[in-house]
Parts: sequence; C-alpha cells; structure tokens
Amino acid sequence: MTEKIAHLLRHGQPDTNVAIQGWVRTKRELKEFTFLEINDGSALANLQVVLEPSLPDYKDLLKKLNTGASVEISGTLAASPAKGQRIELKATTLQLYGEADPETYPLQKKRHSMEFLREIGHLRARTNTFGAVFRVRNACAAAIHQFFQDRDFLWVHTPIISASDCEGAGEMFTVTGFNLNKIPRNEAQEIDYSQDFFGRQAYLTVSGQLEAEVMATAFSNVYTFGPTFRAENSNTSRHLAEFWMVEPEMAFCDLVGDMDLAEAFLKHIFKTVLERCPEDMEFFNQRIDNSVLATADNIINNQFERVTYTEAIALLEKAKKKFEYPVKWGLDLQSEHERYLAEELFKKPTIVTDYPVEIKAFYMRLSDDEKTVRAMDILAPKIGEIIGGSQREERLDVLEQRIINQGLNPKDYWWYLDLRRFGTVPHAGFGLGFERLVQFMTGMGNIRDVIPFPRAPLTVEF
Ligand code: 4AD
Ligand code: MG
Repeated sequence: MTEKIAHLLRHGQPDTNVAIQGWVRTKRELKEFTFLEINDGSALANLQVVLEPSLPDYKDLLKKLNTGASVEISGTLAASPAKGQRIELKATTLQLYGEADPETYPLQKKRHSMEFLREIGHLRARTNTFGAVFRVRNACAAAIHQFFQDRDFLWVHTPIISASDCEGAGEMFTVTGFNLNKIPRNEAQEIDYSQDFFGRQAYLTVSGQLEAEVMATAFSNVYTFGPTFRAENSNTSRHLAEFWMVEPEMAFCDLVGDMDLAEAFLKHIFKTVLERCPEDMEFFNQRIDNSVLATADNIINNQFERVTYTEAIALLEKAKKKFEYPVKWGLDLQSEHERYLAEELFKKPTIVTDYPVEIKAFYMRLSDDEKTVRAMDILAPKIGEIIGGSQREERLDVLEQRIINQGLNPKDYWWYLDLRRFGTVPHAGFGLGFERLVQFMTGMGNIRDVIPFPRAPLTVEF
C-alpha cells in the first residue's frame, strides 16, 4: 500500500519500508547519487528521495525523471542529514508512469506570475501556492460543515436551477432547452417560454435562501452550501460569475442572533484551519501576504465591531480620506468605504446593520422607522463584504408590499408568501461568499485564484 507524503513527513520512522506515488518537483544529480523531490499534493513539503546507481535502469531513468513526471517509488525511510527535513526515502524500486518533456512542460522551477498560471488552469494545482490554496479551501469547507453539524443544523440541498430571483436584482443566467436558432415567439414577438423545457423562464440560482427559508420553517435551523451564479459583468478581484455560498437560516431568530452566529462561525473556521493547515498558513504569511497570521489571530481573539449604517455614514463623512464615490445617507457603501471602515478605522471585521430600505432586497425585515431594514453586512479588512444577511420579513402584508414596491410580482413568490400565511415565525439568516472567505484567510489578491476553475466574464476555458 502506498502512503501519503504528508503522513510520512509527520509520522514516518527510519528503517521502515514504504511506497509513495506523486510527481517530480525537482531533480538534482550528483556524482554518487541523485535527489528527487516528490510531491503528491497532501502537503506543501516534498519528500526527498535518494536514488543510487544500483537502482535498476538508473542511467536511463535519470534522463526521463524531469519536473512533472509521475512516479511510484518504494524504499526505506532514513533519518535525513539535510537541514529542514526529518526523513528521506532511499529508493529500491521506481516505476515511471508518465514523463513530462522539459522543453514543453510549462511548470519549470521558477516563480510564475498568477496571470500566467491562470492561463494554465489545468496545471496550476501542481504548484506550491495553489496546492496550499486548495488544501485550505478544503479545510474551510470541512470546518463549515463541522460547525453546523455540531449545532444540529440540517444540511439541506437547495436547487441550482430556479424560477425565482432571490435578490430581485435581475442578474440571472437563463437556463433553456430552446434551439437558439429557432426560439418560439408569441404574437407580440416576445420569447414564448411556455414552450421551453420548464414551461416558463428558468435561471441558475443566485442564492439558495428562499428555499432555505422553506426548510427552516420545518426544521428550525438549516444551512445550504452550494454554487450560486451571478450574471453581473464585474471584472474585479472579488467577483465571480459562479461562486459558492454558505447560507444558514434560523427560525425563531432575530438579527442579533444572526450576527452572533456569523461571528462565532467565522471564528470557528479560522481556528480550525490554523490548527489543521499550519504549514500552508505559514506559507501564505511568508510568500503571499505577511498579515495573514496576524489577521487570523485578530479574528479569533477579538470581538467584531458592530455599527449601524447611519453611524457608518457619519464616520465616513468625518474621515480625512478622499473617496472616489460619494458618501451620503441612502447611497450604498462602495468597496472603498467598506475597506476604510474595516481596514483603517476599526482594523477588524465590522458588522454594519440597519441599511436603508431602498438599497436592500425585498425580503429583509422593515424596521419601525420604515426607513431601514434589519440587514447586516460583515466587512472584512482587504476584502470588504464577506457576509450579507438579515432578519426576514415575516409579516405577510408588509412583505407583499415590499415585493410590489421593488417592481416584482407577488404571484411569482406565492409559495414564499405562503410561509407567512401558515405558521409564520421571526427568522433570520445570512450568506457567506465562500471564495471571499478563502481569499481573506489566505491573503490571495484575486478571487480567481482561490477557486479551482474560475468563471468570470470571458473566462470559462478550464
Ligand atoms: O449579499 P448577497 O447577495 O446575499 C444573498 O445572496 C443572500 N440571499 C444571502 C442570505 O441572506 N442567505 O451575497 C452573499 C455573499 C456576499 O456577502 C459576498 O461575500 C458573496 O456572497 N458574493 C460574491 N462572491 C463572489 N462573487 C460574486 N459575484 C459575489 N456576489 C456575492
Ligand atoms: Mg450583499
């Protein structure tokens, strides 16, 4: 049986026989023997392998063992005399699975730019940086499930294809079975979706929230964690057209309970990932952003700042900083404002609550002032909005009016309104942008570099 390199580096004992499989990172030929560095993705570090001339086909193999080649090696572990590694593997057999031509294999031993690595999206996972990113991403996902499972939240699977626009922002991709060269039209020359696959226009979901609310009004506490889609033409380092969202939804919960859960949730994820991926996190701190570990420490050990939108506007108006976009009560916060609050003013995650009703989605609970809704956004240093959530409008008449005011049709939301007709309860939830979380945790500058296969305008190759 072969073993994972991560396991051997930690627990492997000298004089034991083991086998590994992986890819050659480097080869160093000396007179008496050759060193290979092998990586199998299980750890940032490579396992050093020593090949001696007594190995069958030694000369021939050496020519073929270039960076990127895939191998299986068995041998005996030995204490390593070299600095920085505890053990190495002395090879007794080596099977070469596939060669990688050094003239054409793009990942040679040098630093490559993130832009170049995006062009080879099918190979970049074999680099140190992307190896660390995807291990941390995995640890985040596992920590998320653990957090909710420990608290008896039901994991519910909300659909990817949906007929409703949760955010009411019209940023949806249509899903159709039409032959696009022969789209049926009605007498008014409008597209006749009644003849389409679903009998009406359908979309890729922008959020699982509405369906999560359905499940929360039966199971009390639920969460969904899946891909969501936005057809916004945003070419920024924080937007994707396809991203993963974690959305808990709690019945019998108000906005304060929602914020408390979100704060405990972020703290748990950071703590768990630091414990599980210390080498990867150290790597990010050294090579990507030297504030990564301090940020993690800050998240885990400090209370988040909580301010209302109205207070935030006052603070922004007082700021000595020149902003590109105007600051005025009623206008949405731009990313520069969000970053000023979290990064410069409070220097920690900041929860902004009670936004003006006009700039938030229809489902957020209207406050008694009728000017604001019980919304909350969590703003993270360097990233800006990482979580968006709210207490939901549980009053039927108010919700119907909000839907109408936003130019939407209550008929399209009949089942959502039914939740307020039958056994309505105060409830609340939020959505965490999973890639923004991974970005925040790793210090990676561009959101396209924390998802294996980014989808963005004109980006769908891999
Ligand atoms: O603020 P948003 O739009 O909220 C919702 O969709 C709610 N229905 C969530 C809920 O209450 N259940 O999106 C939630 C989060 C944002 O805070 C942001 O982190 C992330 O999703 N997000 C994006 N991430 C990457 N690319 C995009 N285009 C994103 N749009 C939103
Ligand atoms: Mg939002």
